[in-house]
Amino acid sequence: MEKKVKISDLKNHAGREVALRGWVQGVRSSGKLMFVLLRDGTGACQCIVEAAEEAAFAAAQSLTLESSLELTGTVRLDERAQGGAELTVAELKPIHIAEEYPISRKAHGVDFLMHHRHLWLRSQRQRLILRIRHTIIKAVRDFFDGEGFTLIDTPIITPDAAEGAGTLFGLDYFGEQAYLAQTGQLYLESAAMALEKVYCFGPTFRAEKSKTRRHLTEFWMVEPELAFAELDDLTALAEDMTMAIIERVLAQHRADLLELGRDVGSLELVRKPFPRLTYSAAVDLLHSQEIHDKLRAELAADERRLGEWRAELAELREQLKQPMKKWKQNKAEERVAELSELIRKMEVSVENRPQHIADAAEFEWVRDLGGDEETIISNQFDSPVFITEYPREAKAFYMKRSPDDPRVVLNLDMLAPEGYGEIIGGSQREDDIDALLQRIEAEKMDPSNYQWYLDLRRYGSVPHGGFGLGIERTVSWICGLHHVRETIPFPRLMGRIYP
Ligand code: 4AD
Ligand code: MG
Repeated sequence: MEKKVKISDLKNHAGREVALRGWVQGVRSSGKLMFVLLRDGTGACQCIVEAAEEAAFAAAQSLTLESSLELTGTVRLDERAQGGAELTVAELKPIHIAEEYPISRKAHGVDFLMHHRHLWLRSQRQRLILRIRHTIIKAVRDFFDGEGFTLIDTPIITPDAAEGAGTLFGLDYFGEQAYLAQTGQLYLESAAMALEKVYCFGPTFRAEKSKTRRHLTEFWMVEPELAFAELDDLTALAEDMTMAIIERVLAQHRADLLELGRDVGSLELVRKPFPRLTYSAAVDLLHSQEIHDKLRAELAADERRLGEWRAELAELREQLKQPMKKWKQNKAEERVAELSELIRKMEVSVENRPQHIADAAEFEWVRDLGGDEETIISNQFDSPVFITEYPREAKAFYMKRSPDDPRVVLNLDMLAPEGYGEIIGGSQREDDIDALLQRIEAEKMDPSNYQWYLDLRRYGSVPHGGFGLGIERTVSWICGLHHVRETIPFPRLMGRIYP
């Protein structure tokens, strides 16, 4: 019996007979040869079927895109081949002949692809992203495990809000109102008083009524919580964790990132210590003439680029009216599709920019930073940047007030560079029972639901704090993706719950 192997391992079987199983990613014939591009869970490779192998050749004729099959053959090393090896097929056995596959090579719209997410996952790009997501999660968990943290699984069904009543998903709990968890934090604080260094990692739910490229209604968050910790301890931990993620992904996925079109150099630029500004300094930056001039110059450059793309598109459309060789026509049509997409995106961006520039100049001290402001600020740095000490009104009830300035809290947001914006939010927690009660009442929350949480301030209260890292936004940044919808296998967004 031939040895069953995986495509990623083919190179170690040069000259030997092996068996592969997988799916047809492409199939074409050229006279007395058929080429089956086979994909398995580890990669893809070209399998060559010669007409002389009559049974295999006949079976290969029946293959359609995404049919599943098993085949045996001899491994031949070839530097030029995808994955460095090819298979010369001796036997080919279809397992299932696929119906006409809905996803073809032509460009599909995002809505179509999202509707076929269950199939879209098979595409090379999605496979790469899912693997990198896996590595990021593994890196985070290894980091905390290595630092002596204990994993605590916090409940998904909760009696009340933790991150504001505006984004709660309600559910009926045997006749009582309950909600899906917006965070595991409050429970982690309790566990931190038992084990000092703890973290949770799980799904979190927020009924975000905004359609942005950064918001999901169901996302995965890793949250560390530490007893005896102050703001500086938290920024140091967030820095180390972020570096651990980047180092791991660069070590294991450099080629994958390049294949995704990621500019790996900008990830390599990330260095400790990350810049750190207070919220007030960030607002001054938004108001500064320097930023204003920079944004204006970027807008002018983008308008020029838009003009060039439009000219190129018009030129190509003219050319396509004339007869031309098929390959030339295909190439021109591909470029037309690419340009149209670029132009469409740039038009929206250029149109919105004057408003963003005006909004930045007039940004009011007291508001939470929004996506547009975060983009502007994070664009000024190569490394992630910490923004600390936000106005109390802009942030959650549990954040500790600054002893130096009662208008602000001891919190941190970490904004990823290249315009990715907030990927971490955290704070030192209010450890004084009276101050906390005041905040609970001011937020019109029901104190009876929080007695257990107040107990943590009754029995050996200590300075403590933590933060939450959004996995999807992190994957988006590391992979250089435009939208979080591709960072999770089955995204839940406002207006999307299928499949
Ligand atoms: O800043 P947030 O709301 O902080 C908390 O939930 C705290 N309880 C965490 C803590 O201190 N333990 O959320 C933390 C991170 C954000 O920075 C972002 O990366 C991610 O969670 N996040 C979202 N990701 C995708 N879609 C959404 N709707 C998200 N909301 C927050
Ligand atoms: Mg936040």
